[in-house]
Amino acid sequence: TYPEDIDNERLILNQLISGDIDKYHIEKRYITRTQTIVWGNLTVSLIQEKERGNPYCLAMIENITKRKQTEAALQQSETQYREKAQELEATLNELQKTQTQLIQTEKMSSLGQLVAGVAHEINNPVNFIYGNITPASEYLQEIIELLQLYEQHYPQPIPEIAEHIDKIDLSFLIEDFQKVLTSMKVGAERIQKIVLSLRNFSRLDEAAMKPVDIHEGIDNSLVILQNKLKDKPGHPEIKVIKEYEKLPLVECYAGQLNQVFMNLLTNSIDALEETFQINSEQKPTIWIKTRSINSTEIQIKIRDNGKGMSEAIRNKIFDPFFTTKSVGKGTGLGLAISYQIVVEKHRGQLNCHSTPGKGSTFTIQIPIKSAITLPSLA
Ligand SMILES: Nc1ncnc2c1ncn2[C@@H]1O[C@H](COP(=O)(O)OP(=O)(O)OP(=O)(O)O)[C@@H](O)[C@H]1O
Ligand SMILES: [Mg+2]
Repeated sequence: TYPEDIDNERLILNQLISGDIDKYHIEKRYITRTQTIVWGNLTVSLIQEKERGNPYCLAMIENITKRKQTEAALQQSETQYREKAQELEATLNELQKTQTQLIQTEKMSSLGQLVAGVAHEINNPVNFIYGNITPASEYLQEIIELLQLYEQHYPQPIPEIAEHIDKIDLSFLIEDFQKVLTSMKVGAERIQKIVLSLRNFSRLDEAAMKPVDIHEGIDNSLVILQNKLKDKPGHPEIKVIKEYEKLPLVECYAGQLNQVFMNLLTNSIDALEETFQINSEQKPTIWIKTRSINSTEIQIKIRDNGKGMSEAIRNKIFDPFFTTKSVGKGTGLGLAISYQIVVEKHRGQLNCHSTPGKGSTFTIQIPIKSAITLPSLA
């Protein structure tokens, strides 16, 4: 008998001898005289004959070495197949990830270029307008002074002039002209701000990490999204409540992190718009909360009181191409890209908490210094 099988058989043999059982059946190995191992199918029965006093055993051995070998070979090839399947699955995952990365690179770099181009084109004309408002105000002031001088020295204008003054409502015109210039200035300043945000936003070419003010990034994204937050026919204004704590500068890929803020905020806006169509009692709101967790990490929470999502949806939101939005509206890449940026590029965490009908919260956690030197995707 093969040494490792001895104990096994002894146990069961003792049971036979003590009369607990009257036969047993095991598969075991034997060593032949030529030192090869053979498998046997052993059946042992206890025979008790009335005439004879001592009981004896009747053993029957069938050689099952071939079967055992086939079984072992089968098992091995099954294991091999399983390993192959796992390998294939891993490769598929890897491919999917690469595809997402490629699309991300494509999406971000073309978006970045477009945004940078538009910002540049708008920048010059807006500066003409803005730059001319101050001299225009000064000229207006001088003309007003001149008119006042005329009035002082010729308090009784000839009828034609008096009539014209009446017709154009001179005092109102003077007052309103100044207001017009002021609102032009406010508008031009707003355009300048948007241009600046667009430029900041498109800093995608910045391959190196550098310390940035996270709040500035969030605010830039909000400026870009201003238009979507305003009230529109059928949708009330979306309120944004910022609860910023003092944060240290965070070493990161600024453009990419801005992309994350954009994606999360856009999703919240979409969810709020859909909620409002169903439930007009809601006051659509987005809360943005930032804090330092400890000396090495910061946290950004973006919460909305939109439609929320079911557990089944929530389990899939980070999958590339998963979307519940209609064709053309969503590509299902927003969160997959965000996840990659936060988790893989910044060694952070991106989590989602959501209750259907109540709203969703996305939490970004990133190290202040993410000491990694991954090659840039862009
Ligand atoms: N704040 C949220 N509230 C409710 N559902 C959300 C929210 N954020 C994401 N989701 C769900 O997760 C899905 C995936 O989001 P993701 O941003 O990846 O893609 P998308 O918004 O559909 O398309 P894309 O962002 O590429 O235009 C959405 O279709 C939506 O169902
Ligand atoms: Mg999205």
